[in-house]
Amino acid sequence: MAGRRPYPASCAVALAAALLACAAAAQQPKKAGTARPASAAAAGTGGAASPAPAADYAQRFAAQCASCHGANGRSDVPGTPVLAGQPSFYVITQLFLFREGRRDNEAMTAVAKGFTDNDLRGFSDYIGTLPPVPAPPPSAPTDEARMRQGQELAQQHKCFFCHGFDLSGGQQVPRIAQQHEEYLRASLQGFRTGRRPGYTQAMIGAVSRIPAQDLDTLAYFAAHFTGPTPTPTR
Ligand code: HEC
Ligand code: HEC
Repeated sequence: MAGRRPYPASCAVALAAALLACAAAAQQPKKAGTARPASAAAAGTGGAASPAPAADYAQRFAAQCASCHGANGRSDVPGTPVLAGQPSFYVITQLFLFREGRRDNEAMTAVAKGFTDNDLRGFSDYIGTLPPVPAPPPSAPTDEARMRQGQELAQQHKCFFCHGFDLSGGQQVPRIAQQHEEYLRASLQGFRTGRRPGYTQAMIGAVSRIPAQDLDTLAYFAAHFTGPTPTPTR
């Protein structure tokens, strides 16, 4: 799709590590000893031991992740995000944040804390191969007035500019189309209040001035978004 540039996957770990090591050093000097920037950076430059074969991560995903995130990457638990269709670069940044204890969630911290750099790369590469899975048909009719309001807010606040005209994301930007509404709402409110740190400041800047109520409308909009509306001028 438009806006996606090729990105060498091998750079992702190094990039995540470098940026986050700086952020960690600036914000949490007392925890500096627990970060592992050197080993993470080494893995990114190709100096580490050879990674496990991709098939291993398909199996490990089925064994360790599918119970919550779904075998095909579409979880049916409202607070548990859909992973299908997420770009691998976005995934690796988030797994890194969980591993380092910077993005805080009990379940994911427990899962990620023992990850090696190869695990970060193996799981994110595997997740990057899962095709998007559309949401099941909604149980109630979609509120069209709320969708129009959400569309306007999304245009006004440049959500499409970064997340793509179809909200499918790309590179370090996540897919948000048809993600669970409850998860989207919690994420947006988390960025706004500072509870959820970003890999970059992009989202904090994007939502810090948006009223909480409008964020809920945006969550509803993205969760129910099925594609761009044709321009009325044609
Ligand atoms: C016990 C349930 C559970 C298990 C098992 C689990 N997860 Fe998660 N995962 C979650 C929840 C809940 C969240 C949302 C955390 C939050 O709200 O910050 C999440 C978030 C994530 C995210 C961030 C998604 C996003 O859109 O930002 C990734 C990536 C992820 N998990 C990958 C994995 C992988 C890989 C495994 C297996 C190695 C795994 N998870 C196992 C519950 C789980
Ligand atoms: C300047 C670019 C930019 C803009 C504008 C932007 N985003 Fe984002 N968004 C990002 C990036 C990058 C991330 C990844 C978060 C991180 O840095 O860890 C993200 C993450 C998110 C997430 C978390 C998804 C997940 O799976 O956890 C949601 C939800 C989201 N954005 C919604 C929005 C909405 C709604 C808007 C418009 C109000 C918006 N974004 C505007 C770049 C942007």
